[in-house]
Amino acid sequence: MRAVGIPGWLLLLLLLLPVPQAAGARPCIPKDFGHGSLVCVCNATYCDTLDPLVLPAPGSYAVYESSKAGKRLERSEGRFQSSLRTPGLLLTLNISTLYQHMKGFGGSLSDAAAMNILKLSQPAQDNLLRSYFSQSGIEYNLIRVPMACSDFSVRPYSYDDVPDDYELKHFRLADEDVKMKIPLLRRALAVSKRPLLLFASPWTAPAWMRSNGDVRGKGTLKGKAGDKYHKTWANYFIKFLDEYAKHNVTFWAVTAQNEPLAGLFTPPQAPTIAFTAAQQRDFIAQDLGPALARSPHRTRLLMLDDQRIHLPHWAKVVLGNATAARYVAGLAVHWYLDAIVPPGCSLEATHKLFPDHFLLYTEACTGFFMFRFAVSLGCWERGDHYSHSILTVMNHFVSGWTDWNLALDLEGGPNWVKNFVDSPVIVDGSKDVFYKQPMFYHLGHFSKFIPEGSRRVGLHSSRRCLLCQLEHVAVLRPDGALVLVVLNRFGRDVPFGIRDPAVGFIEAVAPAHSIQTYLWRQQ
Ligand SMILES: *[C@@H]1O[C@H](CO)[C@@H](O)[C@H](O)[C@H]1NC(C)=O
Ligand SMILES: *[C@@H]1O[C@H](CO)[C@@H](O)[C@H](O)[C@H]1NC(C)=O
Ligand SMILES: *[C@@H]1O[C@H](CO)[C@@H](O)[C@H](O)[C@H]1NC(C)=O
Ligand SMILES: *[C@@H]1O[C@H](CO)[C@@H](O)[C@H](O)[C@H]1NC(C)=O
Repeated sequence: MRAVGIPGWLLLLLLLLPVPQAAGARPCIPKDFGHGSLVCVCNATYCDTLDPLVLPAPGSYAVYESSKAGKRLERSEGRFQSSLRTPGLLLTLNISTLYQHMKGFGGSLSDAAAMNILKLSQPAQDNLLRSYFSQSGIEYNLIRVPMACSDFSVRPYSYDDVPDDYELKHFRLADEDVKMKIPLLRRALAVSKRPLLLFASPWTAPAWMRSNGDVRGKGTLKGKAGDKYHKTWANYFIKFLDEYAKHNVTFWAVTAQNEPLAGLFTPPQAPTIAFTAAQQRDFIAQDLGPALARSPHRTRLLMLDDQRIHLPHWAKVVLGNATAARYVAGLAVHWYLDAIVPPGCSLEATHKLFPDHFLLYTEACTGFFMFRFAVSLGCWERGDHYSHSILTVMNHFVSGWTDWNLALDLEGGPNWVKNFVDSPVIVDGSKDVFYKQPMFYHLGHFSKFIPEGSRRVGLHSSRRCLLCQLEHVAVLRPDGALVLVVLNRFGRDVPFGIRDPAVGFIEAVAPAHSIQTYLWRQQ
């Protein structure tokens, strides 16, 4: 740098200016809305950031901590010891026991999310995208994209509203794609160091293909598998992939249908095409599977995309058919009924029956209709709810977890059927600010540390979890480092130990209402 000619006072002023984004972690600017914990406030010129991950030196570990009391992914380091002073709860790692490979973590670029992000000024948009996708943020690598409208749009629409257009000659992406989602996807791809896995899900077909003659509400596809309606509907997926490819946006996967069992949790007007398991099997075996296989796209196909109460039944019906099973890579699962459906008899049972098909969580949110408040700014328990789900399903063979809307407004929308919910990022366009909620940091405790290709490993707890309060999971990263996430949802500090036979012991405490991520390498 040429300092010649710059007066001393100017240099001093330059030194006093805020440090640029890349130059180090910036702390959270907290705001308390009176819902138990705080949000971090970001605007056009300021946003809390993280440093890119650096593995600690051998013999040391790093720990990141967030808490109801106010920590947000705060990093500290410590050294392994040769023994523990206080025997008690001990978590012992066994990296010889290897479980599922991880796909990753992410959220959904619904029309509503795109609109909220674009309501901000350009520099604030950049801060939001970097928060989710860059190394100074939580490094999401999954993005779900609705094909045409979902309820989180401002209007119902499909990509081809010209009746009886079986050739799809009038198929056209919407302004929501071309002006909003595609430019944002390209910016997300540009700030992300990791490869992003994009997947798309349809909510509705054009009205003229549907039994009720409307893109809105619950309907079925007209006719039956193998006929012109089903062939056209399969080709519609390919057209969608073709059009996005013209914008250099490539999809890793599609799901066969968002919530084919339909509309338990959404108002009756919400757009949905219903399928039974047998109808989905036949549509995949006869129409969608062959259409994808014939296409130039190397896009995977995920079945179900609905609640786990339908497992393993749906898996047996669809994957029990060898033709359908060949076209299906994995099972997509939503979280809305998890409280009443044990993971063992749904997720684990499915994994045991079909170990070659992965399980991926593709939708979750808090504040849905049975709760009073759609948006609850700073609510810690909603973050707990996320990490409790992630820990539970990872321990039952699930390979990744996808949040619903990446960003919503203060009301929890927009949503044209007023099905408002909460989001990890809430945008206040009128102030050009956005709020990063506890849910954002809870997800970050997994997404930033567990890249695609990591594997869950054995973790033995010396006490039954009923008494120990802590929930945990351990993974081995592709670079050989180990990650252990520990959640304490209760109001009491819990001392515990971690043992990695290859390195030694960590003497630890999980503070009340906290989540921690430990990171170390074995040599
Ligand atoms: C953005 O946030 C920072 C940190 O809180 C604050 O100093 C600055 O004034 C804010 N900018 C605007 C335009 O409000
Ligand atoms: C670790 O896992 C391997 C493979 O599952 C198993 O054979 C071994 O007994 C385990 N070691 C301990 C100490 O539990
Ligand atoms: C897509 O990528 C190709 C090759 O990198 C480039 O030539 C083309 O301009 C890109 N198209 C768009 C729409 O960005
Ligand atoms: C799979 O389902 C298709 C109908 O969709 C049927 O034609 C075929 O016989 C079934 N295959 C097996 C192996 O059950």
